Amino acid sequence: MTPLNIPEWQSLVRHYSDLKFVSMREQFALDSNRFERFSIKSGDLLLDYSKNRITQETVDKLIQLAEAVEIQDWIERMFKGEAINHTEGRAVLHTALRNRSNTPVMVDGKDVMPMVNAVLDKMRNFCEQVHSGTWLGFSGKKITDIVNIGIGGSDLGPAMICDALEPYGIDGMGVHFVSNVDGTDLSTTLEKLNPETTLFVVASKTFTTQETITNAHSARNWFLKQGKQEDVAKHFVAVSTNADEVAKFGIDTANMFEIWDWVGGRYSLWSAIGLPIALYTGMDNFERLLDGGHQMDNHFRQQPLKENIPVIMGMLGIWYVNFFNSHTQAIVPYDHSLARFPSHMQQLDMESNGKFINRSGARINYKTGPVIWGTPGTNGQHAYFQLIHQGTQLIPVDFVLPVNSHYPECDHQSILLANGLAQAEALMKGKTAEEVRAELVKEGYEGKELEALLPHKVFPGNRPSNVLLFPKLTPEMLGQLVALYEHKVFVQGVVWNINSFDQWGVELGKQLAKAIVPELKDDAEISAHDSSTTHLIKLIRELRQ
Ligand code: F6P
Repeated sequence: MTPLNIPEWQSLVRHYSDLKFVSMREQFALDSNRFERFSIKSGDLLLDYSKNRITQETVDKLIQLAEAVEIQDWIERMFKGEAINHTEGRAVLHTALRNRSNTPVMVDGKDVMPMVNAVLDKMRNFCEQVHSGTWLGFSGKKITDIVNIGIGGSDLGPAMICDALEPYGIDGMGVHFVSNVDGTDLSTTLEKLNPETTLFVVASKTFTTQETITNAHSARNWFLKQGKQEDVAKHFVAVSTNADEVAKFGIDTANMFEIWDWVGGRYSLWSAIGLPIALYTGMDNFERLLDGGHQMDNHFRQQPLKENIPVIMGMLGIWYVNFFNSHTQAIVPYDHSLARFPSHMQQLDMESNGKFINRSGARINYKTGPVIWGTPGTNGQHAYFQLIHQGTQLIPVDFVLPVNSHYPECDHQSILLANGLAQAEALMKGKTAEEVRAELVKEGYEGKELEALLPHKVFPGNRPSNVLLFPKLTPEMLGQLVALYEHKVFVQGVVWNINSFDQWGVELGKQLAKAIVPELKDDAEISAHDSSTTHLIKLIRELRQ
């Protein structure tokens, strides 16, 4: 099945030719209810999608396409534990991890909720021991620092959440994330820490990931410079599906927190992979995060498609990627503590929807996932916003705006919010040649000088953005936001007819790296590579000190 042949897709193709030059400015002028028409609230979270290149007809047609690909059916299949990750034969149940209603979720005839709850209980118990000082380091001191060793989904999600929930951090507890196999990452983290008071969480679903296992071994060596072998159990715990490998590494499996193959790496922060979040902010705050995720799950599952935030955002993404031919999507949080939010979203979206093969194994002849990127506002405004305003590409932007800061410094927050709103307004409105001319005349320009400057100061406008506005970045709100983007990615994967839950594309590089590692040794034989790789290997050997 290719979506291109669906009548609803074809209807959007025709609609696009009618609409492509329609100006949002004019649409706003014509319809005083445009904001009300194109905004949705879910609890405290508002999506304003009125600054998009759409009319009511566009939304109707996008929803018709979502219906044509049976989105509601797919949503139910996911929530009910069907093996929709068909290339790995797995269910996709991050929603069960935050299923606060506790209704049974069946996988292969077995309810997974008792297992989920048992691990949550184990996490709570462990956190309480660490926080109360019942769990002590080898010299009898309290744990003061958590070091999570993991990569990809076993790093990005928890690291982003810990940053974002810094105001909720427990006094006297530090959290650190080591992911890169570049020794700099581990060394610069450990040089600040004391092995007597440091607890390592080795987080790896498979427990075979080269970077994580290498970092974990080096961390243990660092620890053993002061601690003894029998002390390792007090300072190393694991999160994994793979008890055998955990035991082989030397971690007592009693100190292993289980996850399951139906938890995808990039969707795993809700599982025991979230242990550093719970250790850093407390289990109650971790559960508040789950509550927020669950709230968004209910919204996604129950709201009609037209009032469904992930569905609307997903379909708007399709509109830009497949009809306006846009290649990237910027996510710009106006909250410094969400600095890592775009990176987490990058893995979530690009590892899920960066696919060129459809669910039946056939090559796709339409565009799928865009490049996701972004940094916090207002920094981005002084870096790449020039291109978003006046470059030759159409780059939709999501502005993520918490109204209140945890750090209410004088009028910082008003300036921050004003900037976010101004960017969205400027992208939509632009500045016409007439407006620029009037400004230049006022500034005293005339004649040739004015005409020469004028085109450079014109903003074409009509550039789309969404605003996600909410009162404050609480654990619940963060849970809602992350779950919202997870579901948005899912909606797009269904329309593109791809499996959003595998990631075969990361395997080839891993295989080749394994082959090259031994070849970097001076006298090792170099196997058949292309001439570029062979020369680079030789050069590295020469330059290596
Ligand atoms: O290589 C990509 C990936 O498989 C991600 O999907 C995953 O989150 C990451 O590696 C880490 O995997 P693991 O948790 O098994 O170490």
